[in-house]
Amino acid sequence: MSPSPTPTRAAAAGAAGPLLSLRGISKSFGAVAALTDVSLDVSAGEVVALVGDNGAGKSTLVKVLSGVHRPDAGTITFESREVTVPTPAAAQQLGIATVFQDLALCENLNVIENLFLGRELRALRLDDVRMEVRARELLAQLSAKIPAVEVPVAALSGGQRQTVAIARSLLGDPKIIILDEPTAALGVAQTAEVLNLIERLRERGHGVIMISHNMADVQAVADTVAVLRLGRNNGVFDARTASGEELVAAITGAGDNVVARRTAARAASRAAAAAGTGDEGTDDE
Ligand SMILES: Nc1ncnc2c1ncn2[C@@H]1O[C@H](COP(=O)(O)OP(=O)(O)OP(=O)(O)O)[C@@H](O)[C@H]1O
Ligand SMILES: [Mg+2]
Repeated sequence: MSPSPTPTRAAAAGAAGPLLSLRGISKSFGAVAALTDVSLDVSAGEVVALVGDNGAGKSTLVKVLSGVHRPDAGTITFESREVTVPTPAAAQQLGIATVFQDLALCENLNVIENLFLGRELRALRLDDVRMEVRARELLAQLSAKIPAVEVPVAALSGGQRQTVAIARSLLGDPKIIILDEPTAALGVAQTAEVLNLIERLRERGHGVIMISHNMADVQAVADTVAVLRLGRNNGVFDARTASGEELVAAITGAGDNVVARRTAARAASRAAAAAGTGDEGTDDE
């Protein structure tokens, strides 16, 4: 039972430790406490939905992780190492990629040009062939439904644009991918496509943080749901067992924290039981 003095990489990355851990993160803007003592864990191959009402602090937390805001307090541990994320470039270098809600695509440029914007592949001059091959590879890996890589982004649907933005974030080979409201502007079929895409990311071993207001999307794709309320943690739920009502109660505060914690504890013990014993004890009233 004594801990190994030299834990293996596999142990560190597996059940023993998440890929990314935030502890005690606080951030104020003047008198507004946007985040207070927030914790969050994300493992490789895990989709964590970050949910909460307007103003709950979701975007602020993402901005702390993507090097836009520096936290006033707290620690960020990435691959078992305490790190700081002073700039967006630092986030990228660590392997944390963010797809912001506005996607930041250029309408008039085509899919390949958007993918490689700002990081064009060059030998002596722009290597169009290599970029096109890489673009096709990447989109194929994601099973992306893009009609043609030569069309301008202006001609793509919302879901296809989201796909291009996600594909672009993958070029730096990130370990963590953060998606801010990836399905907010999408129709039913496009939403399904993007949710499939998120599943591809999980299969490929990325840790995914997805901000969403849509509980159906969250329950369809997330493994874990982390609730923020008024800038604080208000429960971590197993997405497979938590009901929509439980999540909404935690988001709005209607269920009171005791209930939320109890639900979370039950979800966690069920998850532990399922992980430890294969597949038993799923139904205890
Ligand atoms: N740059 C800023 N300056 C001042 N206050 C800010 C700033 N950014 C966020 N806030 C405040 O911090 C709080 C949390 O905002 P945040 O944008 O993180 O919420 P959110 O959960 O992303 O909400 P939404 O669902 O509406 O996007 C809010 O009260 C907001 O007004
Ligand atoms: Mg926001």
